[in-house]
Amino acid sequence: MSKKNILLICGGGGKEHDISLISARYIKEQLEKSSYHVHWITISKDYQYLTQNNEECSLTLDGYLRYKNNEKVKIDFAIPCIHGHLGETGDIQSLFEFMKVPYLGANAEASIHCFNKVTTKLWLEKAGLPVVPYLIVQDKNLIDKLSLDKFFKQHQSVFVKASNQGSSVGCYLVEDKKDLLPKIEEALSLSPYVLIEQNIKGRELEIAYYQNKGNTFATYPGEIVVGAKFYDYEEKYSSDSKTKTLVKAPDLNDEIVEKMRIAALNAGRLFKIKHMARVDFFIDGHNFYINEINTFPGHTSISMFPMMVEHNGLPYDQYLKDIIEEES
Ligand SMILES: Nc1ncnc2c1ncn2[C@@H]1O[C@H](COP(=O)(O)OP(=O)(O)OP(=O)(O)O)[C@@H](O)[C@H]1O
Ligand SMILES: [Mg+2]
Repeated sequence: MSKKNILLICGGGGKEHDISLISARYIKEQLEKSSYHVHWITISKDYQYLTQNNEECSLTLDGYLRYKNNEKVKIDFAIPCIHGHLGETGDIQSLFEFMKVPYLGANAEASIHCFNKVTTKLWLEKAGLPVVPYLIVQDKNLIDKLSLDKFFKQHQSVFVKASNQGSSVGCYLVEDKKDLLPKIEEALSLSPYVLIEQNIKGRELEIAYYQNKGNTFATYPGEIVVGAKFYDYEEKYSSDSKTKTLVKAPDLNDEIVEKMRIAALNAGRLFKIKHMARVDFFIDGHNFYINEINTFPGHTSISMFPMMVEHNGLPYDQYLKDIIEEES
């Protein structure tokens, strides 16, 4: 049988361009353990489609990858390894739908919902899943100052977050009331909506939600032990970050773990997420909250999703192979 052609597409114009290349390197290594023909394409920061030899190439709407020498390869399966804009926003998923190419991860609709922090929260809350107390702002001229004052007075320390960003871009910790409006305006310049949330002074836990051979799993929580005031962009990606990731969070109460796993499964099912998601939580004593759902989580050496899948007993190459064989 001929080798399947897997399109591994990474990069893009967003802030997470370089991270997505690191994730793609890991995924390529895993794919090469099985006998697939991996076609690596980087979308450059100015949106050119480039091979690993830096040659231009293109995707065709009938499902092919066309190289510069006009060689055409029918794509059997695509992996949109792009974090954030275009990759987790439903855009590239819609492109693959047009091309009739099966792909890894959530479909366009689930991606759009989960990328918007406001939409995610409204859906989760409506489904009875625990979320951090919040306010929504859609326009600086429509801010309800009374509610905002009351909210700040009640919590004293809040997070202001742009709705459609990742990697902590547009995410600000506000501990002094005078910074509140300027930070809301800053966040509004980056996204159409803004969330204001209570600052949960607790632990950050993550659960890998994944599907394998018809079953859906939610792993034991891992933990991000943040080495700064919060997990901001620098702390996520700089080489001197003090943050540690633990594949198994220590000292958790069994009952809470069970409740969190059920919540992660329910959240994934609510949005009808296919194959993979990382469900992020805050936990404060006996209370836990779902913070967000990442539909294409990081795959770097400190990233939790692949680690947690493996820790749960499924080697990552096998996980990818099972999906590819089922879908293509
Ligand atoms: N309500 C909150 N209470 C405490 N810490 C928070 C809260 N909201 C955000 N944070 C801190 O800010 C970080 C970034 O926020 P969040 O995870 O919501 O967005 P993001 O990281 O930009 O999204 P993504 O993980 O998709 O890249 C969190 O990891 C956490 O450290
Ligand atoms: Mg996050």
